[in-house]
Amino acid sequence: MEKVEIYDTTLRDGEQSPGCSLNDDEKMKVALQLERLCVDVIEAGFPASSPDDFKAVTAIARAVKGSTVTGLARCVKGDIDTAWQALKNTENPRVHVFIATSPIHMAYKLRMKPEEVLERAVQSVGYAKKFFPQVEFSAEDATRSDPAFLAKVVTSAIKAGATVINLPDTVGYDTPWEYADMFTYIREHVPNIDRARLSCHCHNDLGMATANTLASVQAGVRQVECTMNGVGERAGNVALEEIGVALHVRRDTYKVTTRLKLDEIKQTSDLVSRLMNSPVPKNKAIVGANAFAHEAGIHQDGVLKNRETYEIMSPSLIGLDTGRLVLGKHSGRHAFRMRAADLGVHLSDEQVDQSFKAFKKMADEKKEITDNDLLSLFAKEGKTT
Ligand code: KIV
Ligand code: ZN
Repeated sequence: MEKVEIYDTTLRDGEQSPGCSLNDDEKMKVALQLERLCVDVIEAGFPASSPDDFKAVTAIARAVKGSTVTGLARCVKGDIDTAWQALKNTENPRVHVFIATSPIHMAYKLRMKPEEVLERAVQSVGYAKKFFPQVEFSAEDATRSDPAFLAKVVTSAIKAGATVINLPDTVGYDTPWEYADMFTYIREHVPNIDRARLSCHCHNDLGMATANTLASVQAGVRQVECTMNGVGERAGNVALEEIGVALHVRRDTYKVTTRLKLDEIKQTSDLVSRLMNSPVPKNKAIVGANAFAHEAGIHQDGVLKNRETYEIMSPSLIGLDTGRLVLGKHSGRHAFRMRAADLGVHLSDEQVDQSFKAFKKMADEKKEITDNDLLSLFAKEGKTT
């Protein structure tokens, strides 16, 4: 099976989101955990953006050995020089240069004509190539760019030495079909495309980042840019855990592998959430507190007989010990009895009948019943461990 490289940008695009900034020490903790998770590339920051970012990227580049470390740079000589100073001590340095190619960004943000953007892209990739063996080129706002112009820029960037071509859905506007079609178009209209790895980078403004990313993998993309817990600008970037697990669980569909150590996912998610002070919603796919929790009696009964009735993957896949049977007003006797036994209270059929009534009454009053609630109920009824 072909390999898809996982490029984590939690420390760059993720850290840009409001309230998520990290200090140097916290960035290092995240980078070392990402290395344990076995991501292929860590985008550690934007070295020219601030002295702090420069310091953090330099330190991470020195410390991390198991993943490629990269940093962002505009298509500006000074940015590329600064990135080189930060990254020159890594084993296989990579720089990520970007410039926007959409009409709106070129006219209003850059105030440059398309030919000037093309020339700047070529000059910058060529300049970066003097230092870096790996040069990633991003056409910012690629999804709102003219396809023929985009193909011209990509062809020229590869000629100038780009080894990775990233085509971001910067504003999270595309549908999965459109995003996949853009890559198909580029593969068909860029004669030297086989000399570079194609990369996707999806934002989640319309909630389609995961679908768009997976569609692009089916269209030949072999690097996925993502962040832990989907942190990032506005509605965030595509979530690493969703892509990593989807490519694994649906490997017969996508027919690719990653190097990720999936059982490090939960730990990485918890660390990023805590350090960025960014709580993970309960119902978040893969890492939310309810992702492996079952409350409805019918579901609990099914799961207790065979987990696969309502679970498409085991919680241990992402490093969780067990799934959770949540006791609430929808729960059934089977789950109730099992939880009692887990707490050391072994109930006869008759005792289950008695206690279950009291439990249902309590569940009507409370949203979720904790182990302590159950223990006090058993104590009141004289059923002790
Ligand atoms: O969303 C985007 O376009 C980016 C680029 C800098 C790659 O983050
Ligand atoms: Zn982005």
